Amino acid sequence: MTGPRRARLRALAKINLDLRVLGRREDGYHELRTVFQTISLADTLEIAFTPGRRSSIELAENQIPDNLVLRAAQAVMDALRRPGRVEMRLSKRIPMGAGLGGGSSDAAAVLLALPVLAGGELSLPDLCRMGRDLGSDVPFFLLGGRAVGIGRGTELFPLPDGAAQMGVLAAPGIHVSTAEAYRLLDASLTTELQENKMFSFQSLAWGWESGRPAVNDFEAVVFPVDGRIARLKRSLMRSGAVQASMTGSGSAVFGLYRTAESAARAMTSLSGNDLAGGRVFRIHLVSRARYRSLWWRALQEHTGANVWPPRSRYLR
Ligand code: C5P
Repeated sequence: MTGPRRARLRALAKINLDLRVLGRREDGYHELRTVFQTISLADTLEIAFTPGRRSSIELAENQIPDNLVLRAAQAVMDALRRPGRVEMRLSKRIPMGAGLGGGSSDAAAVLLALPVLAGGELSLPDLCRMGRDLGSDVPFFLLGGRAVGIGRGTELFPLPDGAAQMGVLAAPGIHVSTAEAYRLLDASLTTELQENKMFSFQSLAWGWESGRPAVNDFEAVVFPVDGRIARLKRSLMRSGAVQASMTGSGSAVFGLYRTAESAARAMTSLSGNDLAGGRVFRIHLVSRARYRSLWWRALQEHTGANVWPPRSRYLR
């Protein structure tokens, strides 16, 4: 019998540097044009696999109903047919329901790591399909860095990594329902608008570093729901941010700065009242090269060469 194969993973959060909603699709989802970016804020997932005759999946002290990591682990075990015991422990640091993709990143971490530990192999197209079935933001975390997302947000095209940027992330204690935010947007979506948005997004993606103003369509419908979110954005702008935006359907907002000093100063400019019991984090953008090297390092003991997705050394 082989003992447990263990790994300790950092599941990074994302922000949307730009996010446009074009319209409602026939499948009920919305057609998006967005730029995703991984950031340094992360959950920690400890995962162990012990080969055995029977399969089981456990998540210690789980506080989240229908946790996506359990569904991700089940999907991998079904696809691999390598029986064994999967034990996981998740330490949450990424605020939930804030537009930061925490649950999606945790699920992607399982998709990337469990095949390696279990001695199986899933192709990237298979992983993308499994990711999409778990949630619209999951496939992005199979890529990392900066990427354009189209369709449901699950069709991804890498963008070059930008200059390193420091940031401040304010996650107020205000819950925004994603489904409700989409419903609020529906009223304002027209065909004419769709075409305008498509071309303006495209020109932004072509010249990403040229400093065109970024957009998040959800701001127009989420800011009126609670004035404190817009006030946080204004504070970040005033403190010298090169960009300040809400991420996803909120309620977290981020500001990006050229220097660590200006980011540090911005932290102190935020009002406790506007944070509504939430939290502020210092962040930096994480490039795709860095994202991958974090993964390779975390799985070093269980992989051979540094290839993407990480490849198991227990393959039979
Ligand atoms: O895919 P996911 O489960 O993360 O989506 C959560 C909800 O967000 C969906 O039920 C849907 O209401 C909405 N959504 C959407 N269009 C997208 C992504 C999400 O309408 N592209």
